[in-house]
Amino acid sequence: MTSMKLSPAARLTGRLTVPGDKSISHRAAIIASLAEGSSNIQNYSSSQDCASTLACLRSLGVSVEQRGSRVRIEGRGALGYSEPQVALDCGNSGSTMRMLAGVLAAQDFESVLTGDNSLRSRPMQRVVEPLSLMGARIVTDNGKPPMRIAGSTKLRAIRYELPVPSAQVKSCILLAALNAEGFSEVIEARGPTRDHTERMLKWFGVPAEIHPLPVNTIGLRGPVRFSAREIMIPGDISSAAFFIGAAALLSGSDLTIEGVGLNPTRSRLISLLQSLGCAIETTGEHEVCNEPIGNVTIRGGDCSNSSQLPVRLEGEVIAELIDELPLLAVIGCQLTGGLEIRDATELRSKETDRIAATVINLRAMGADVEEFSDGFRVSGQTRLRGASLSTFGDHRIAMAFAVAALIAAGESQLDDPGCVGVSFPEFFDLLDSVIER
Ligand code: S3P
Repeated sequence: MTSMKLSPAARLTGRLTVPGDKSISHRAAIIASLAEGSSNIQNYSSSQDCASTLACLRSLGVSVEQRGSRVRIEGRGALGYSEPQVALDCGNSGSTMRMLAGVLAAQDFESVLTGDNSLRSRPMQRVVEPLSLMGARIVTDNGKPPMRIAGSTKLRAIRYELPVPSAQVKSCILLAALNAEGFSEVIEARGPTRDHTERMLKWFGVPAEIHPLPVNTIGLRGPVRFSAREIMIPGDISSAAFFIGAAALLSGSDLTIEGVGLNPTRSRLISLLQSLGCAIETTGEHEVCNEPIGNVTIRGGDCSNSSQLPVRLEGEVIAELIDELPLLAVIGCQLTGGLEIRDATELRSKETDRIAATVINLRAMGADVEEFSDGFRVSGQTRLRGASLSTFGDHRIAMAFAVAALIAAGESQLDDPGCVGVSFPEFFDLLDSVIER
């Protein structure tokens, strides 16, 4: 773990593409492995998390061929995996563990899902509860991984209201529902979350029923069988987000990111920054594999928002911005009236406690921050100063504070820059390619 020196930047200019979307790549690989026939995936995410998904699928007997960002998966059908000889190592990836749990609950063998220290401290009861209602038998270590999933279970359909907004839990249930007898429904009573699973299932021809009103509800009649498809993955908007945020903050920036996913359940950062006065434009919008995609151009410098009051983010919008909240904390320090984020207790259950990590690093940079159990408030118009920053082993904390270091006065030091590989191994090289000092 070597640390990295980060210098301030003048502006970001040029054009770039970011690697394929991590959330969509997980789903493409898992759903393709359940199809009949072979699927080709283009622009598969380069993240370590998505490599963990492929490694688990291989351990389950799925043939996976990878050449760069092209992946070919020989589907085994909905109940065709083979019994793994080892515990399935999901690495740092909560998405891999929670989604595979839904698939494994119906297979006719026992399996164990485990992961790294961070993942083994994250809550899994949220998937154990609905899967148990469907008839699955799962043992955990006090609600945490490893998860031991008994096989040979005949799953039954459920109607389940998500107690916490979570696309991973929703997806876990929908994947289990593929093998459950009857009509399953997931109700997003606390607000909609990213809908990539629904879109990918439809791309594979699975008749998922979606009713957005009065609350978003997704229904699926099992058992369902489906065939392989060709898949193209859009660029990852949550990776692009760090470039969008940095370019918006650095005046004189003129940056275009091409081929980025613009799914409305993920692109809220763009509309939020636009509402704060940032010059951000989307062009060339079209759909690939049921997912909206386009180019994003950011012209920096106008992103200060004139209101003297803090911008307040709370309620349903939190799920739509969940992965962008540490970055927004950095942006918030530059707004006229600052920023307050509430209803975001979920941040404490991510790869690290992202509320604590954000507060510690912002304070080290001289920001005025108040911490709440469910969020934080930052004062605006703060000239951050370079500092010694900790990633806490969390990729998004690393990238959010790499952005903070670009706008700070003086140099910063980041303790574990390599952790960005969990979602975005190319981050620092791409950043270097667009920075002007
Ligand atoms: C993800 C959902 C979110 C998000 C994570 C990826 C997904 O997690 O934070 O980075 O791909 O479904 P939750 O579903 O736990 O909110």
